[in-house]
Amino acid sequence: MQKIIILDFGSQTTQLIGRRVRELNTFCEILPYNKYPEDDKDVIGVILSGSPLSVYQDDAFRVDLSGIRGRLPILGICYGAQLISYTNGGKVESAGTREYGRQNLQYIDHTNPLFKGFEEHSQVWMSHGDSITALPVGAQKIASTATVENAAYYIPGEKPVFGTQFHPEVFHTLQGTQLLKNFVVDICGSKQEWSAEAFVETTVKELREQIGSDRVILGLSGGVDSSVVAVLLHRAIGDQLTCIFVDHGMLRKNEFRDVMRDYEGLGLHVIGVDASDKFLSDLAGVKEPEQKRKIIGRDFVEVFNAEAQKITDAKWLAQGTIYPDRIESLNITGKVIKSHHNVGGLPKEMHLQLCEPIKWLFKDEVRRVGRSMGMPEHLITRHPFPGPGLAVRILGDITREKIHILQEADAIYINNLREAGLYDEIWQAGAILLSEVRSVGVMGDERTYENPIALRAVTSSDAMTADWAHIPYEVLAKISNEIINKVKGVNRVCYDISSKPPSTIEWE
Ligand code: XMP
Repeated sequence: MQKIIILDFGSQTTQLIGRRVRELNTFCEILPYNKYPEDDKDVIGVILSGSPLSVYQDDAFRVDLSGIRGRLPILGICYGAQLISYTNGGKVESAGTREYGRQNLQYIDHTNPLFKGFEEHSQVWMSHGDSITALPVGAQKIASTATVENAAYYIPGEKPVFGTQFHPEVFHTLQGTQLLKNFVVDICGSKQEWSAEAFVETTVKELREQIGSDRVILGLSGGVDSSVVAVLLHRAIGDQLTCIFVDHGMLRKNEFRDVMRDYEGLGLHVIGVDASDKFLSDLAGVKEPEQKRKIIGRDFVEVFNAEAQKITDAKWLAQGTIYPDRIESLNITGKVIKSHHNVGGLPKEMHLQLCEPIKWLFKDEVRRVGRSMGMPEHLITRHPFPGPGLAVRILGDITREKIHILQEADAIYINNLREAGLYDEIWQAGAILLSEVRSVGVMGDERTYENPIALRAVTSSDAMTADWAHIPYEVLAKISNEIINKVKGVNRVCYDISSKPPSTIEWE
């Protein structure tokens, strides 16, 4: 399949470039800047990302493009454009102050294919501390702003090179998608074959070939990723798939029952394991967040393995790993700060091979794939939920009573978000029981001394950064009333207005 390679120089927006390219129904891969593949026969173009570094620093990330130039079209974005310039006879200098924000293009070369369809003075987004003060050899200027002379350049050729000082991938570059389309479709020649339907068709075929008549085990969590993997595998190999869904006792209210019902409705063979006694007894009295996580992780592997080992002829372990879990993002030192973390701890002696059919997809693509297979909407749009479940939303030690209180409050909260039509706008929401805190209240004629509930709701596109959701006061008022009136043990409700960073989404 045709693909675009995006070389990552450590910019925060590299993943966004990938998403924009995928939105153009074109497959792409994001690779560390120095890991361009040896075999690039399917590659139709290369994009160089931005970076927090300066190209003239001693420790800047550099890459030799001589093997690519002339064979494939190249688009350098911000640092990418500066790098091409700096290493090809141009000049890059500190702009003095960091330029950050909206600007309008004062000059655009409308004859250039990169700017096809561009309006006069189109708005772009700048974020840079350096400027290209001399263009690379053979280049011509194709756009300027009031303050940035070389806002974009072009080196003609059968396989041309382009550089933009601004970021076409971000929302505030109003015709950024048009620019990327011009590059990916017109200049690189993408046939725009990447779609959810095409993905399902080829993946099902590949899974059949890969797995043959073997048996596959899949751990289900109720979340969209593992559910989509289950349905894909079910299409490919039917009853050769066995799913395991572990209830650790800290799921949402009725979630185990509801999700099992959903899965059965999808025709999946699911073994539901109620292991709540084990988890809760191992967690008894444990307050420290990391220790709670460790116990849950360990118990999960034990319970899952015990079930998996009963399926003696299994050869594969399927997982809902998605692309952002695997992208090796770089930090300023060039070290990988995030790599594959989703592989579970199955014992080696089981000799299971990993099957990760959605490892190339972004979250929104996983959802599209699920929809294209006719999965129910509530499974597809379900908010992410942490593996350790409500354990990381009950501060302090965990008891069945606390779980019950939190489940009730959480259910009221989520139902109200749904009723208010806010659920789908929010990335993730949940209630937190501040069980280590008690405050005074009055109910009827009686004094109360009970726990508060905190409500958390965030907007995000990938959970790496998040903002608190601006839920209308009236909705918050209704939720607060309902929780305090209906949930025994709670006499106060607070709303968490912290963004990530510096706070995290979960409280523990
Ligand atoms: P934080 O709290 O780090 O969470 O901002 C980011 C995203 O990850 C989820 N999360 C987890 N998911 N196991 C998981 O499978 C975990 O231990 C875990 N901790 C946090 C969190 O819900 C959010 O979506």
